[in-house]
Amino acid sequence: MRLAIMGAGAVGRSVAELAPEYGHDVVAIADSSGAVVDADGVAVEDALERKADTGTVGSADPDDVLGASYDVLVEATPTTLGDAEPGFGNLAAALERDRHVVLANKGPVAERYDDVMALVADSDGEVRFEATVGAAIPAIATIEGVGPSRVTAVRGVLNGTANFVLTRMAKEGLSYEHVLAEAQDLGVAEADPSFDVEGTDAALKGTIVANVLDGGGHTLGDASVEGITVLPTSALDLAAEDGRTVRLIVEVTRSGVHVAPRLVPEHDTLAVSGTMNIVQFETEHADRLNISGRGAGGPETASAVLADVDRLD
Ligand code: HSE
Repeated sequence: MRLAIMGAGAVGRSVAELAPEYGHDVVAIADSSGAVVDADGVAVEDALERKADTGTVGSADPDDVLGASYDVLVEATPTTLGDAEPGFGNLAAALERDRHVVLANKGPVAERYDDVMALVADSDGEVRFEATVGAAIPAIATIEGVGPSRVTAVRGVLNGTANFVLTRMAKEGLSYEHVLAEAQDLGVAEADPSFDVEGTDAALKGTIVANVLDGGGHTLGDASVEGITVLPTSALDLAAEDGRTVRLIVEVTRSGVHVAPRLVPEHDTLAVSGTMNIVQFETEHADRLNISGRGAGGPETASAVLADVDRLD
């Protein structure tokens, strides 16, 4: 497949680096402002190096990428709320050209799922978005495998940054500001880390899951969201005295999407450490499935993007 990549951050760059290993060619890559990293004959690796050195390379016309000859648009610009731009517009431009779209950006399928599916209905292109929920964890594929109507609830830890902050604060007694800065250095935090600690990123993932379970109809605004910013360190100490710990839990049930810090037993399956994620699927006839793994990071997210590319016809 020939890939065009919008977004040249940790995820877009990892997709560019790993694509050849999966047998795919990167024909163009632009950063989120539309500055083209490779549309003028510059080798992708050289262009990525120049981007790392200079911050940006080339022109600022996204049409240089969207109009290129490619089979799949990888949309990896930062997630935005509301109208989900520029991700939604990029997706629409590719579908209009009957190209496939693989999303790492959560905005289009969390905020405008129904609009996305209406565009898909009029296009020969498909849209896939495995990377948007739990990165390397095949959450969407698992729901599709079990059958969306046979999954009665989904619960889990779906934000690596918040989990890292909670784990480090509880185990090492470090301050919130210190561990959040560490998470940013690891490259797992969102461009705007308030998305992580205020629960927005986890709620976006829960909303995407709800859309897959119900075939659409959900947006972020319908979710109830409480982050970890209001949690006093003393709450973590009190929990530890009692053999418990605090995790930012996402719950998706037929009654909606709920994100909040919850007390869980220290050795519970949900009490994953550091940047790990876990997803629990409650199924109608087969009880509970658990999948834990790396839910954030460039290569981890890129692996889900490239698995989606492999699933396209
Ligand atoms: N900032 C996110 C996290 C990245 O910490 O989990 C993956 O969506």
